[in-house]
Amino acid sequence: KQILLLNGPNLNLLGQRQPEIYGHATLADVERDAVALGNELGVAVTCKQSNHEGVLVDWIQEARSTAAGIVINPAAYSHTSVAILDALNMFDGPVIEVHISDIHQREAFRHHSFVTHRADETIIGEGVAGYARALRLLVARL
Ligand code: DQA
Repeated sequence: KQILLLNGPNLNLLGQRQPEIYGHATLADVERDAVALGNELGVAVTCKQSNHEGVLVDWIQEARSTAAGIVINPAAYSHTSVAILDALNMFDGPVIEVHISDIHQREAFRHHSFVTHRADETIIGEGVAGYARALRLLVARL
């Protein structure tokens, strides 16, 4: 089975970006580990990242015919994007939302995520280890 791991804006700079909040691992590290864990769990993980909302919407639409489940860190679009929520609402498989930081302990504008309305589970504040837990939770739901 195919799994889509989707990362939103500014996560391409993971490792350089506010490491005191997001840690030192790079997106390449996260993606490599996710592919390896997927292999262990018997799923093929495809990793994509975009800084553009519409591109993320396009990929979620595509996933309707190519992926059995989605792990998504929508990054800042979590807090603003009804379009990403709407796209996920058309996707039939399980969706797990990840936030590296604990968005509930940060600025008030990060406390609400539109994607949480659709996500089967939301993992927050576990650092990049949250992606591995998300993948395991997703595979358990397939
Ligand atoms: C984030 C939290 C968001 O508030 C922020 O805009 C991000 C990353 C996280 O993984 O902790 O870009 O989704």
